[in-house]
Amino acid sequence: MQQSDHLLWRNEQDTARYAARLARQPALRNALITLQGDFGVGKTAFVRHLLRALGVTGPVKSPTYAVVEPHETPDGLPIWHFDFYRFQDPHELEDAGLRELLAENGLKLAEWPEHAGPLLPTADLALAIEITGDTERRVTVTAGTDTGSAILCNLNP
Ligand SMILES: Nc1ncnc2c1ncn2[C@@H]1O[C@H](COP(=O)(O)OP(=O)(O)OP(=O)(O)O)[C@@H](O)[C@H]1O
Ligand SMILES: [Mg+2]
Repeated sequence: MQQSDHLLWRNEQDTARYAARLARQPALRNALITLQGDFGVGKTAFVRHLLRALGVTGPVKSPTYAVVEPHETPDGLPIWHFDFYRFQDPHELEDAGLRELLAENGLKLAEWPEHAGPLLPTADLALAIEITGDTERRVTVTAGTDTGSAILCNLNP
């Protein structure tokens, strides 16, 4: 089983292309994907490309102030886009009732997972993004579960 992958996105088109490949994975329909990386690396941009590829047409804005933005694809897949940047205390995850959402069936995408603390479930796929040029990004994708490894295997047959 494949555990990790290294990607180079030379520009936002590469980002969109990878998001589109990921969107075609059936296992994504019940998965948690975390997105790590500094301000402006493209976490929200990646989520936007992924949601577009899944058929979501409405605005995909950063949920920094709302903590979570719900979406739904035309074929009824629920998606929750979390941004834990403003979390000070990991127990906020309990207080805000977000753990229930994280346990729901559907696609869960989380920016700033390191601010959510140990209560965040293990991500099926963890993307760590680094800026290496104007539009260039280096990305490490790590599978944390069998679901994640299966997705990686499917992406790289
Ligand atoms: N290859 C690329 N992939 C993704 N975004 C890119 C790429 N090249 C340039 N960009 C640009 O980088 C910016 C990334 O901003 P974005 O809001 O997605 O960052 P973020 O990681 O979500 O930041 P924050 O931590 O503030 O939420 C966007 O303006 C996007 O157009
Ligand atoms: Mg963001």
